[in-house]
Amino acid sequence: MRSQALFFLSALMVVGLMTWGLSIVSSVIQKSRSVSVPAPKCGLATLCTADQFPVHVSSGAADIVGPKICFNGKIIMSHVLNNVGLGLNIVVVNISSGSVESSTVLNMKNGAEKDILQRLNSIKPGMMVLVASFGDVTLKMSDEIREAFVGMGSSLVSSLKYRDNWVFVGRGVTGDKSLFEKRSVNDAKTNVYDTYPAVAEVAGCFPKD
Ligand SMILES: *[C@@H]1O[C@H](CO)[C@@H](O)[C@H](O)[C@H]1NC(C)=O
Repeated sequence: MRSQALFFLSALMVVGLMTWGLSIVSSVIQKSRSVSVPAPKCGLATLCTADQFPVHVSSGAADIVGPKICFNGKIIMSHVLNNVGLGLNIVVVNISSGSVESSTVLNMKNGAEKDILQRLNSIKPGMMVLVASFGDVTLKMSDEIREAFVGMGSSLVSSLKYRDNWVFVGRGVTGDKSLFEKRSVNDAKTNVYDTYPAVAEVAGCFPKD
């Protein structure tokens, strides 16, 4: 009888010790996980690899809420930062160094066509270009201006119409078609806001080369 009770007690102790040990091990694993696993940047669902940059670009909502351009985990232009404006909001990044070279608003209503074109043509070959529309961007959008964006890899700029929302990420003067582009068509039947279409948005891991 005594030996049975002893056996039972020691078995209980072993189980207790094992549970305690396991809980320590699992808490250590959890801790090391939360330390070593980085969170995806720019609100993406997945992590980008070392040869990609996380990007997330949203157009304006009607002519009320400004667009947002996130590059490599940092919001470069937004309504909240108060550095966006009606027209085309453009961030230029040196893709080799990952440094932001400029953020500009091109006024597509009151701006001069030749100034807009000059600004676009000054973007050096290979530079990364992130573009978000805010309000109508077609009033001053000449064929030459559309061609400049086609040269950066845009497919949709050629058919962009009055009050369409547009977001695009490409490369200066490469001619390679970009997969990072969305258009939200202004159509009274599908518009979210009365006279404006839904926000256009593009997000993902942009290749460095
Ligand atoms: C981009 O950055 C690299 C590395 O810092 C530099 O060598 C290069 O000159 C830069 N390119 C441009 C066009 O400024």
